[in-house]
Amino acid sequence: MCGIFGYVGNKKAIPIVLEGLKTLEYRGYDSAGVAGISQGKTLFYKDKGKIGHLAKLLEKKRLEVEAAIAHTRWATHGKVNSLNAHPHFDAHETLAIVHNGIIENFQKLKSDLVAQGIAFVSETDSEVIAQLFAFHFQGNLKQTLLKILPLLEGSFAIAGVHRNFPKDIFVACKNSPLAIGVGESEYFVSSDVNGFLKYTNKVIFLENHEIGLIQPSGLKIYNEKGEIVAKQTESITSKIEEISKLHYPHFTLKEIYDQPESINRLFKNRFEEEFGAICLKDMGIDEETFMETSRILILACGTSWHAGSVGAYLFESLSRIPTQVEISSEFRYKNPIVMKDTLVIAISQSGETADTLAAVHELKAKGAKVIAVCNREGSELSRLSDHTLFIQAGPEIGVCSTKAFTNQVVLLSLLALHLGRMHHLSKEEGIHFIREIKKLPGLVSEVLSCADEIHVLAKKYNHFTHFFFIGRSYMYPTSLEAALKLKEMSYIHAQAYPAGELKHGPIALIDSNCPTVALFGNKHTFSKLLSNMMEIKAREGPILAFAPRGFDEVSSIVDDVFWLPDTCDEFASIPTSVALQLFSYYMALERGCDIDQPRNLAKSVTVE
Ligand code: AGP
Repeated sequence: MCGIFGYVGNKKAIPIVLEGLKTLEYRGYDSAGVAGISQGKTLFYKDKGKIGHLAKLLEKKRLEVEAAIAHTRWATHGKVNSLNAHPHFDAHETLAIVHNGIIENFQKLKSDLVAQGIAFVSETDSEVIAQLFAFHFQGNLKQTLLKILPLLEGSFAIAGVHRNFPKDIFVACKNSPLAIGVGESEYFVSSDVNGFLKYTNKVIFLENHEIGLIQPSGLKIYNEKGEIVAKQTESITSKIEEISKLHYPHFTLKEIYDQPESINRLFKNRFEEEFGAICLKDMGIDEETFMETSRILILACGTSWHAGSVGAYLFESLSRIPTQVEISSEFRYKNPIVMKDTLVIAISQSGETADTLAAVHELKAKGAKVIAVCNREGSELSRLSDHTLFIQAGPEIGVCSTKAFTNQVVLLSLLALHLGRMHHLSKEEGIHFIREIKKLPGLVSEVLSCADEIHVLAKKYNHFTHFFFIGRSYMYPTSLEAALKLKEMSYIHAQAYPAGELKHGPIALIDSNCPTVALFGNKHTFSKLLSNMMEIKAREGPILAFAPRGFDEVSSIVDDVFWLPDTCDEFASIPTSVALQLFSYYMALERGCDIDQPRNLAKSVTVE
């Protein structure tokens, strides 16, 4: 997804903004560009390709500017080419802007400007902001912004420079985050606070409809009426973690191997084992919230929705609380019915997913209490929600989520056990589940130690172009996640189904060219899944099973089996998912895919 970075201060601006863009690379992008003002002229470089390519261009012709804006583009409107890359300008290049979001009424605005004789050069929606600004500009940045911003429908985070104000940057946002880092007589602008944590942990978050004018002498924030707004500077406590691949060939593999440690981070001071109780005091949620909860509503997208779907099984099984899981992009347009005492849990690794943010806004408007399950401090979701439970997975750079997924599921498991012990779980049951959940880091390490075996399986199955992933109970949402991983990493089509559903149509696709990956990590439904295997075998469908050790009869039916360490059904999705993350990783490796930044994908989907 697009990333914005800007700098105002006394250092050389271009190296700072290039360095800032590098911290935003994880979001996924296809083009990059920078701009600044020098001697009354708007100077810029932009092109499709990576930031390294842009840096090389800039080595040839340095931009000596005192304030600079920069952008990584993830294409929404218009092909991937240099014309559509940001920054965008007006016809006379009096200003440059960079934009994150979607201007939904850009066609109307564009045709009105074209009717006034204004020539556009790009296919993007973003260019209309620059053209509109120049059309209305009469010398005052703030007044111009107050005039044009209400005309823009949709979402935007904007940073811009104008040739009349060479040392300044102007910013604005609506439903797309923008953070301002406050340094010693210098300011940073970024889509993500991690972009400037190296320089300052003092941050001001721009709210919807606010405008910022940033000069070396200071920062002024105005509301939509043009009145000065006194903003609190917040301090970000998380340290900029060393973001490096270490000895791994990909961030994704490093993050898969991080999982024993990242899961353990969640367990620190968490268990009161003698009472079979989970301690969540550090998360700052009042117990009344939990005591009053009679329904749970989970909102998320993608992998986070899969984690929420595992969570739903956990809440209903361990806490006996009716739980509804919703895909944010669908839910937000449902005019949702929010019952009293509903605990809303919004799950988002990035905390910036536009659909989940919009769904939460809708729920807040209906008076719901929202708990965020998130991985990034200072994210929009964590600031929008009543409480945030941080999954403590550490920075996840690979676009395909791995350790965030398992930490989301583990956190939801802890929450479900906590709620369960409040309602009906006995002390003995609590002690049992605590003993089981504490084993997870070791079980994951055991799976990781068999990576070579999984690589062999990936080599054997790599030539297939279609897969089914099936499972029952907890293994169904686990199969959804496993199928997504294969699609994302290797571009192979994969479809997940509840195993019992195959016979209701999809089995028409089963033949010797369409393997099924069967997830057996659910003892409760084991025999039923075996029957499903027979149905597939009868139609010559190859089967690759991931099954807990001890279920020996599986190997007499399937073509290949990867033996998993055994655990209770409730927590089986964790070792199973790690094995399937490795399977997808090696399938993609064999196919030579760009594993950390797969084509078309973004780490943080900040547009609808
Ligand atoms: C996960 O591998 C994908 N990159 C994607 O489905 C992701 O989970 C989804 O976009 C939600 O992101 P979030 O958790 O940051 O909200």
